[in-house]
Amino acid sequence: MSPLTLNSTYRLPSGYDIPILGYGVYQTPADIASDVVQHALKVGYRHVDSAVAYRNEEPSADGMKKSGIPRDQLFFTTKIPTRQMNYENSKQHIENTLKVTGFDYVDLYLIHSPYGGKENRIGAWKALVEGVQAGKIRSIGVSNYGVHHLEELEEWMKSTEEKEGKGKGGVLSVNQIELHPWLARKDIVDWCRNKGVVVEAYSPLVRATKTDDPLLLPLAKKYGKTTSQILLRWSLQKGFVPLPKSVTKSRIEENAQIYDFELSDEDMKKLDLDGVYEPCTWDPTVSRD
Ligand SMILES: NC(=O)c1ccc[n+]([C@@H]2O[C@H](COP(=O)([O-])OP(=O)(O)OC[C@H]3O[C@@H](n4cnc5c(N)ncnc54)[C@H](OP(=O)(O)O)[C@@H]3O)[C@@H](O)[C@H]2O)c1
Repeated sequence: MSPLTLNSTYRLPSGYDIPILGYGVYQTPADIASDVVQHALKVGYRHVDSAVAYRNEEPSADGMKKSGIPRDQLFFTTKIPTRQMNYENSKQHIENTLKVTGFDYVDLYLIHSPYGGKENRIGAWKALVEGVQAGKIRSIGVSNYGVHHLEELEEWMKSTEEKEGKGKGGVLSVNQIELHPWLARKDIVDWCRNKGVVVEAYSPLVRATKTDDPLLLPLAKKYGKTTSQILLRWSLQKGFVPLPKSVTKSRIEENAQIYDFELSDEDMKKLDLDGVYEPCTWDPTVSRD
């Protein structure tokens, strides 16, 4: 495999390419989102991860447009919010995203979480599938899905294909979950790998709670990098799509400077904390409703 660069992409099951490094905008205030997105694009990011719930789809898209980079070289993700998620509301959210962003299509639309019960999960998925059929969305996926949620969706997709024909159940391209050495989610990652579903890693910096961690500090020293860069490099070498967030221009740059070194196999193993379960955010993957 050729070495990864800031321009590297993965091919999604949908057939579209996703830039491997994403720029997360959770908790990025709407009044600065356009500016920080423009900075991220200036330093080479091409992929922005937003959500209806983040209330910054519009300014994030504004920053993408103001960057002057052609739309087809940029990748915009958003997510159907968990609150009152169902088929009808999901259709509305898709329309509204196109309206507020002014985009002709969304690159990737995800279901933000599995909360809300099977009927609503499937309803939201159907709305996404219809969005793809109508050319409003290129690729679709889920977020915070545990293996049992993924299997429920796969079963529905299969039975829909049997009844209605190939492709009618939609194509699952992505599962976006919290992922870092303290939450490696082997079960979910393995399931996705086996099915060719791309895994996106959110909170890849563990929300800056491990900046001085004794496991990371010696590696940072050894490679002449920051602990944040070590975490992002780990994520890249695991084959994930990391989505670091920062509103600080110097950190936006720092988080993209992860292509001039490689963690050795031995050092990757040091970060293999098998069985450790330390989420730093919510964890809907375990919900059973
Ligand atoms: N699907 C979901 O349910 C879900 C949940 C959470 C997150 N996400 C996505 O994943 C993205 C990232 O996750 P996250 O925002 O939770 O956490 P994160 O990226 O792990 O950490 C963000 C925090 O780290 C700080 N930071 C960034 N770069 C740093 C650096 N080089 N050195 C020191 N500190 C640094 C940021 O501060 P400053 O901003 O002040 O620089 C911010 O406080 C989100 O923006 C969102 O797009 C998705």
